Amino acid sequence: MSWQAIDRTAVSEEQLGPGLSDAVREKIRSFFSRYPTKQAALLPALHVAQDAIGYCSLRAMREIAELLGVPPSQVMDVATFYTMFWTHPRGEKVITVCRSLTCELMGSNRVLAALKERLGIGEHETTPDGKFSLQTEECLAACDHAPCLLVNEKKYKCVKVEDLDRILADPDSDKLDIPRSDLYDAPPESEARQE
Ligand code: FES
Repeated sequence: MSWQAIDRTAVSEEQLGPGLSDAVREKIRSFFSRYPTKQAALLPALHVAQDAIGYCSLRAMREIAELLGVPPSQVMDVATFYTMFWTHPRGEKVITVCRSLTCELMGSNRVLAALKERLGIGEHETTPDGKFSLQTEECLAACDHAPCLLVNEKKYKCVKVEDLDRILADPDSDKLDIPRSDLYDAPPESEARQE
């Protein structure tokens, strides 16, 4: 669970957090033509906002609501339903340990305990230097390589406790072959037709 309860009755400017940049707004608008309604672009909009800001701030959620023409409460409902969206600041790297059965049988509890010890934090907490947050999640869709974890969006399979120091020390531990933001970009029509 990566969300926290928000008292919306009294929100200060600071609590609203950062808003969307022009580039992020443009990116969100670029999704509209792919869907029958603007509302349907809510999930990618939240992803793009979170990628840019680091989390889904209240201000960003309000601005997404305006862009999509939906009530802010609807954006917040979706953002707080899915555990991958954070409504408060998180660490530069979020480590997500799989807590489902196959990984647990293969030792994910040991991996999680070792991470808690090395980072000095519990689940849903962030290290004081802001580098790491820790959480657990249901099946990461690589059960045949259990136990698994994610560093941001990058998946690590067959993880052993002995691997953790290397993963934590690697500055590129979250680098994907395909930048995450590109995952939202449909291939040009010409490429799409060739596939
Ligand atoms: S149970 Fe962990 S990846 Fe499926």
